[in-house]
Amino acid sequence: MSSSNSASGDIDIDKEKLPTHVAIIMDGNGRWAQKHLFKRVRGHEKGAETVRTIIRTSRSIGIPILTLYAFSTENWQRPKHEVMALMSLLKKFLISECQEMVDNNIRLNVIGQVEKLPKDVQETISETKAATAGNNNLLLNLALSYGSRAEIVESVQRIAAKVKNGDIDVEAITPDLISDHLYTGGMADPDLLIRTSGEMRISNFLLWQIAYSEIYVTETLWPDFSKEEYLEILKSYRNRERRFGKVPLQGK
Ligand code: FPP
Repeated sequence: MSSSNSASGDIDIDKEKLPTHVAIIMDGNGRWAQKHLFKRVRGHEKGAETVRTIIRTSRSIGIPILTLYAFSTENWQRPKHEVMALMSLLKKFLISECQEMVDNNIRLNVIGQVEKLPKDVQETISETKAATAGNNNLLLNLALSYGSRAEIVESVQRIAAKVKNGDIDVEAITPDLISDHLYTGGMADPDLLIRTSGEMRISNFLLWQIAYSEIYVTETLWPDFSKEEYLEILKSYRNRERRFGKVPLQGK
């Protein structure tokens, strides 16, 4: 039995064939600004509008988990004024979207070294998380001050501490146990990873979690990334055969 959600007008697709978890490397804000002779910050502002569109679209078509790479551990090295502008944009965004998230049953989660963010941003995150805690339609993971190697190191440290305390045996360290100790513990791994603006890089994003993800790179700069292109990518994902290292299914 198939459950089509074409009634929403968004996409004619079997819900069963939608990815459970979409992760996106949102790249190209700076190049978009340069192309339009704007300051870089204007590119981030336009990028925030795209974030809103992609969250709404994911929610309306029934994607269960969306993870957006909004600020990496490396991004702290950008000029101070750009870092501050990104932080203030993020805070404004969370404040302005909170009610919509509540109304649309979207839960906010943050992955990354949250403690490194400015205190006022941390407070806004806590408030938004609390306001959306009971929601279960779309889980929105914002990766903030996120680096995958740091995440893996933290996970290994926590596991090593448990071994040291005698809480678990060395033999209990399995891929599932490692997954459970990542920031994304308990979540399905991304089925689909999208990167905008054409770079063929992973940029320290979800290194463990994307072991079997389908990867889609588009040349489109993030501020120009549209609902229509997102839906096209989801349709093309539907037609990919995922084998997880095995041979194609017999009879296919
Ligand atoms: C890459 O563009 C994007 C970022 C560093 C951060 C992404 C931020 C946003 C989309 C806006 C705010 C986010 C939220 C969640 C409201 P870039 O500056 O690296 O572009 P470039 O490679 O063209 O210079």
